[in-house]
Amino acid sequence: RLSILSRLWSLLLLLHLLLPRFSLPVHFTTIEDRCPEIAKTYSIGRSLEGRELLVIEFSNNPGHHELLEPEIKFIGNMHGNEVLGRQLLIYLAQSLCSEYLQGDERIQTLVNTSRIHILPSMNPDGYELAVSRLQERMGRNNAQNIDLNRNFPDLTSVVYNRRRQKGYRTDHIPIPDYYWFGKVAPETYAVMKWIRSIPFVLSASFHGGDLVVSYPYDMSKHPLEHNMLSPTPDDKVFKLLARTYAKAHETMSSENSRCGSSRSVSQKGTVNGAQWSSIAGMQDFNYLHTNCFEVTVELGCDKFPPEEELFLVWHQNHEALIDFMEAAHRGISGIVKDEGGNAIPGARISVVGIRHDVTTGENGEYWRLLTPGIHVVSASALGYTKAIKKVHLPQRMHTAGRVDFFLQKAPLDLDTLDPENVTDSYARFDPFNQYERYMLMADPSQNREERLEKPWWWSYFVLPGGTTPTWLLRHY
Ligand SMILES: *[C@@H]1O[C@H](CO)[C@@H](O)[C@H](O)[C@H]1NC(C)=O
Ligand SMILES: *[C@@H]1O[C@H](CO)[C@@H](O)[C@H](O)[C@H]1NC(C)=O
Ligand SMILES: [Zn+2]
Repeated sequence: RLSILSRLWSLLLLLHLLLPRFSLPVHFTTIEDRCPEIAKTYSIGRSLEGRELLVIEFSNNPGHHELLEPEIKFIGNMHGNEVLGRQLLIYLAQSLCSEYLQGDERIQTLVNTSRIHILPSMNPDGYELAVSRLQERMGRNNAQNIDLNRNFPDLTSVVYNRRRQKGYRTDHIPIPDYYWFGKVAPETYAVMKWIRSIPFVLSASFHGGDLVVSYPYDMSKHPLEHNMLSPTPDDKVFKLLARTYAKAHETMSSENSRCGSSRSVSQKGTVNGAQWSSIAGMQDFNYLHTNCFEVTVELGCDKFPPEEELFLVWHQNHEALIDFMEAAHRGISGIVKDEGGNAIPGARISVVGIRHDVTTGENGEYWRLLTPGIHVVSASALGYTKAIKKVHLPQRMHTAGRVDFFLQKAPLDLDTLDPENVTDSYARFDPFNQYERYMLMADPSQNREERLEKPWWWSYFVLPGGTTPTWLLRHY
């Protein structure tokens, strides 16, 4: 049923797309064209209705992981009707490109020393619905009516159920088999596969409807009891990350700007997720399944604000976004090797007092986000002796402390064998292993006609000679 309103909206949308062509005679090239040295676009899969889940990546060597460069991701528009994140991330991509080119030293340093992945829309189907209905109540869920933030495996309950066992773990929890027998949205699946194929260190997911940064756990210890403070073993790190964002945001940490349901429990613009509303969401999954630390940023009270407000919101968040990315360089990173200098993948990095390990990747490298102060850190791996180091991290850090470990071969100690044999349960039944890695996927720019239409902003990323976006930050 097409109402007059929605017809009018289509007309407006059309005008919006056409007008800049006439009114702004700027020679616009896409970000990828403009910044080929540092930007690259790729797709991590498709939505249920076939829309590409497009990522733009920034690095001084795009397309490749570089030794000891932390990987960062930003995800927007997971709820299709919460549109601010999507717009903000498009602005961010624009500004990273233009500021790098203009020689901004801070942005250049960031891009030269990190790899930044931006997924502006995780739920493009929901977004289209929200836009076509012009109201924010539609389009939160994907086209199967699944709320994507409630579609990730609930590993938080697994951890809570174990917490009275001796030596229980809160990291690298395998996905329970039963999860795969439920409905797994293609968007959720694509993001999970993406999360696992890149050694992400830090992440933020952007929502709307409130103005606060929430951090794990998102799920309360007692599922029926809401508003239960449920800290992770990394509570100090998560608070630091959340505060980093909220403090640099223009209004988030002020008492007067509160709105939404976090109003009574948030502190200076940050809140423990479970204390606010209890769900097993994406941020808990990141923390419990991978080495990545993710927070959720609620960008504003209005989920679908008028266009005039978008640029203002960008300005309120610009500094916060950059400060947050820079936080990937807090703590320590390094390589774990054996006596012969060979990298040891899968080694555990443990910190005294924090019951949550990170593991080394294929090159033996690891990142451990940590708060300032003194920490006792150890590295261990099956068949090696453990190595321990004491580190002292200063208040202000711009580069992660480099802490390498050299492990000596030791006879296998059966007591230290992992009782759950995590590698085994990954291999036994894991649909991820049935699919190629995202890098091997078809180039989205090919087979164009067989794909569904792209989101309107896609052409600004990849097609030369596209229309000039109204949101272009700086022209050349
Ligand atoms: C970043 O890397 C580029 C290319 O290697 C180099 O030209 C530029 O000076 C670097 N910028 C900073 C601030 O390190
Ligand atoms: C896990 O199980 C597999 C197969 O049962 C075995 O080959 C492997 O050595 C085990 N790994 C550990 C760490 O126990
Ligand atoms: Zn949301």
